[in-house]
Amino acid sequence: MSLLALGIGPGDEVVTTPMTFMGTSTAIMSTGARPVFVDVEPHTGNLDVSQIEKALTPKTKAILPVHLYGQMCDMRSLKEIANRHGLHIVEDAAHCIEGTRDGIRPGQLGDTACFSFYATKNLTCGEGGAVITNDSEINKALRLLRLHGMKNIDSNQKQKNYKQSDMVIMGWKYNMDNIHAAMLLPQLDGIEHRWNTRLDIANRYAKALTSIPDLRLPVVLPNSKHALHLYPIRIDRGQRETIIGKLMEQGISITVNFRPVHLLSFFSRTLKHSPGDFPIAEEIGSSTISLPFYPSIPDGDVNAVIAALRSELV
Ligand SMILES: Cc1ncc(COP(=O)(O)O)c(C=O)c1O
Repeated sequence: MSLLALGIGPGDEVVTTPMTFMGTSTAIMSTGARPVFVDVEPHTGNLDVSQIEKALTPKTKAILPVHLYGQMCDMRSLKEIANRHGLHIVEDAAHCIEGTRDGIRPGQLGDTACFSFYATKNLTCGEGGAVITNDSEINKALRLLRLHGMKNIDSNQKQKNYKQSDMVIMGWKYNMDNIHAAMLLPQLDGIEHRWNTRLDIANRYAKALTSIPDLRLPVVLPNSKHALHLYPIRIDRGQRETIIGKLMEQGISITVNFRPVHLLSFFSRTLKHSPGDFPIAEEIGSSTISLPFYPSIPDGDVNAVIAALRSELV
């Protein structure tokens, strides 16, 4: 909806990262535009801002960064590039409700920032999301797009001068319903508390795993608050698949965030990508494991994960 509100569509290009969930790229493709991938930084997995300008063409209309795992991208540099080339920025902040970097929060420098309230997210009502913007024109466009392109709805109909609603543009059904909102709103007050609980868990993992030579812990950059959505570790020297197998055998469920988007069958076929195109994203995709990480995880489960990793790697 953000991309549509910015007038992006067929023939346009949007520069983005391959180290993300497919939803980032399908959002671009669903407008008719083409995702143009740029490789990522080795330490954070975020879009490598120093490579963006090489990927720009006269068709580029926007940059779509992802604040991966909850660590914000370098938004100040990204904004400078966008200004220099007259590009929009749409932030995928699905992982980054609580994050900050260099005094900037998601949505502050971008035209919009998009949040996910899917079941695994830091704030959740099962499914859903939100877009934020500081721009009143984008706000107006989004409000039309999210509900059938309809004007004069709901409360307007209760006013004295009843106006029949009109459909003024092509629209969708992406509004949040009251039932989901009722699940979501009471969680707002607990955001910081849950973040602190995840910080405790992250600190426990870090303390216990830091000395393992073939294991790298997630990076938190200076001047940043990491939203701590996921706790991805990297396993070096081709041992990742074995470790996944061993953890699964012990009933420890892990995920891989992410297999790079350009190597998923649909994207490699449609956009003609192959292994080697974005080596850093591929290196992360083949070495990362996200450990169990949520506020209510029992202490015993954290201990079991640590013991399983130590027994395999130490
Ligand atoms: C980085 C990222 N972007 C977008 C999405 C899509 O969010 P949703 O499932 O709410 O559409 C996800 C979902 O997991 C994600 O991890």
